[in-house]
Amino acid sequence: MTLIQNPAIESLAPYVLADLSVPEDKMLISLAQNELCFTPTEPVLKAASEAMATAQLYPDADWSELTTSIAQVHDLNRGQILCGAGSMELLEVLGRVYLSPKDQVVMSEYGYSFFKTVAQMYGSAIDTAKEINFTIDIDQLLAQVKPTTKIVFIANPGNPTGTLVAAEEVRRLRSELNENILLILDEAYAEFTERQDYPPLFDLVDLGNTIVLRTFSKIYGLAGMRVGWGYFPPDIYTAMRKVLNPNNISAPSQAAAATAMQQQDVVQQRKQQITTIKSKLCCDLKALGLEVPQSHSNFVLINFKTRQKAQTCFNHLREQGIMMRPMGAYGLNHCLRATISSQEHMDLAIRYLRQTLDKI
Ligand SMILES: Cc1ncc(COP(=O)(O)O)c(C=O)c1O
Repeated sequence: MTLIQNPAIESLAPYVLADLSVPEDKMLISLAQNELCFTPTEPVLKAASEAMATAQLYPDADWSELTTSIAQVHDLNRGQILCGAGSMELLEVLGRVYLSPKDQVVMSEYGYSFFKTVAQMYGSAIDTAKEINFTIDIDQLLAQVKPTTKIVFIANPGNPTGTLVAAEEVRRLRSELNENILLILDEAYAEFTERQDYPPLFDLVDLGNTIVLRTFSKIYGLAGMRVGWGYFPPDIYTAMRKVLNPNNISAPSQAAAATAMQQQDVVQQRKQQITTIKSKLCCDLKALGLEVPQSHSNFVLINFKTRQKAQTCFNHLREQGIMMRPMGAYGLNHCLRATISSQEHMDLAIRYLRQTLDKI
């Protein structure tokens, strides 16, 4: 007999991951998941494999080496850093701690889809703020806030848009939000931005009810190790600790992430390489008559203007083994999202896009 599900879960659609199925005779080139196109460095591989030697033990529940590295690099208080099995785990646990069917959350029109999933898991209603030119508009977000609003979620840079809201605007959002509203600032792609465009915002956490989330899945290139982290006010840290799985990150993952964090020179090199490849890609896409909002991340949103063009290009690329990400789930079925990969992969994608567009 089928058991009755928690009503919030019953009405939840399954989380949709990228489709990576390409013809059998083609090698997959995935541009669909915003992963990094570089493999882990030798020191990262070595640290992870050495940590396997103690795999009979549970991992360090305080993520000591990892949080020490993060605190050093970002000049933060180690005691306010929580780590998760990806930042997705931290987002989900934030929902578990703070959301109920009585609450509402605010996010932007093209906000990261997992924000919606978290709200739905706990039965909270979602108010959506319009974006302007694919960019979060702080006044529109503020206009959606109600007395029952519990959380405001923003991803900056945004996914799937790649656009950035100025740090000053994020500060204004915090200052104009009632202090009892939790602001979750998801900065999964922050390391791809230029520091002058987007200075660190960790100090907002000191104002209370504000959280900044980061991840090792993007510029650090460790999506498969599942490590995310966040900077939390002490009261929220304590509440989260009550329910966060105490053994959530394996020892090899902790060791890999700690080592990657210590290699800031590698992070800078990767950022430059991605920026160079991205600039050329954007020029090539514009030369094909396609629009691309300015991206501050390791992916671009390509606007084909019509659903048919986007679909035809998606199909043709897929026949060649190249998978971009359709954006219908965001109400953007005239767009595809493409992760920055090697120059060779980007050139191939442009070649097949040109062939397709020439024919339609
Ligand atoms: C904005 C944003 N936040 C969080 C995540 C999840 O990252 P993690 O791999 O750390 O769970 C992603 C992944 O694509 C993302 O785009």
